[in-house]
Amino acid sequence: MSCLSGLRAFWEKRLRACSRTAGKDAADDDAVADSWDLFFELRILQIATNSFSELNKLGHGGFGPVYKGLMPSGQQIAVKKLSVDSRQGLREFTNEVKLLLKTQHKNLVTLLGCCAEGPEKMLVYEYLPNKSLDYFLFDKSKSASLDWTTRFRIVTGVARGLLYLHEEAPERIIHRDIKASNILLDENLNPKISDFGLARLFPGEDTHVNTFRISGTHGYMAPEYAMHGYLSVKTDVFSYGILVLEIVSGRKNHDGQLGAEKADLLSYTWMLHQKGRALELVDPSLTKFNNDEAAMCIQLGLLCCQQTVAERPDMNTVHLMLSSDSFTLPRPGKPGIQGRGGRWTTTTGSTATRTNATASTNTGSTKVSGGSSFVEEFSRNSISVSSIDEGR
Ligand SMILES: Nc1ncnc2c1ncn2[C@@H]1O[C@H](COP(=O)(O)OP(=O)(O)OP(=O)(O)O)[C@@H](O)[C@H]1O
Ligand SMILES: [Mg+2]
Repeated sequence: MSCLSGLRAFWEKRLRACSRTAGKDAADDDAVADSWDLFFELRILQIATNSFSELNKLGHGGFGPVYKGLMPSGQQIAVKKLSVDSRQGLREFTNEVKLLLKTQHKNLVTLLGCCAEGPEKMLVYEYLPNKSLDYFLFDKSKSASLDWTTRFRIVTGVARGLLYLHEEAPERIIHRDIKASNILLDENLNPKISDFGLARLFPGEDTHVNTFRISGTHGYMAPEYAMHGYLSVKTDVFSYGILVLEIVSGRKNHDGQLGAEKADLLSYTWMLHQKGRALELVDPSLTKFNNDEAAMCIQLGLLCCQQTVAERPDMNTVHLMLSSDSFTLPRPGKPGIQGRGGRWTTTTGSTATRTNATASTNTGSTKVSGGSSFVEEFSRNSISVSSIDEGR
């Protein structure tokens, strides 16, 4: 009984903290984050997840498995075990988690806290009942439930979440792994970006490449990132462009079963666009869709995937393009079709293996690593296709 009342107090405190941050001002933020009890006891998480049973397993990504859990309060949670050794001390880990706790937006999955007992560190998130976008989009029996209005809302919501991460969060976060399985859907199929800031928990590690080796996110990577490890907000923009094309077409960015011409989504879209047949890309399972919006999304997807970094719009411009009726999108040039495999060769299925030197040991000063200020500068200096300023 005392254990239950303790838990109730814990959740009440957490809820109070959440409601306080809903109407936050910046000065309150630190105080609120510091007052949060961000640690979950391992014992409590074991009970919640049935001792991390296979039945509770939601999936397994590049960082480790994710389990569904049920807290005594009735709240459902998702527990992500970080099985990859971060070699990060507890203090640094705690600081990063505190920062992520302050990174809140309606289009981001809410982090509730962490657990640092035992051999593995864990992150505890809100549970989203509809799992991730890939479950719907790439399953023909489910993709019909994603009508055009829902898809357009997902395209816009992800843009809004990314804009927050790039421009409005307490510290700029380059996601590095935007893809369909990292877009979770709430009960109304609203999108929430997951796994943001994970790279910060693995300083000095080539986290993205590790993740991508295991989960095969090959097709979403911008060529300059895949080839040379150049990281900027525009690498996220590239991945977002591929995601938009997947949402419109209802197919994966690479599907060998579709034949040589169609296998690579980006080349196929570019070919259709050049022939003035872009709308042929739209998912055949959509019985109705808005032609103008679909054409705009295809054009936007191509713009985001431009080979030249400076020719890709930033997320501010993307958001404007999506929300304004009067914005005329520039004509896209040839997208970055080559080089997305970088120094990697794809083997079977979704795995990829490295062929020679590692991206993390490249000689350039913009190598892939967590939070390099040079990398951040590189991203800030990227030129966008539009100089429109929202006044922020
Ligand atoms: N908060 C959550 N609520 C519900 N389901 C989740 C949640 N977080 C993750 N999942 C599910 O667990 C699966 C595994 O997630 P995980 O992030 O480990 O792998 P991934 O997204 O496929 O790869 P990566 O490690 O590159 O992100 C996801 O596909 C998603 O469906
Ligand atoms: Mg994920």
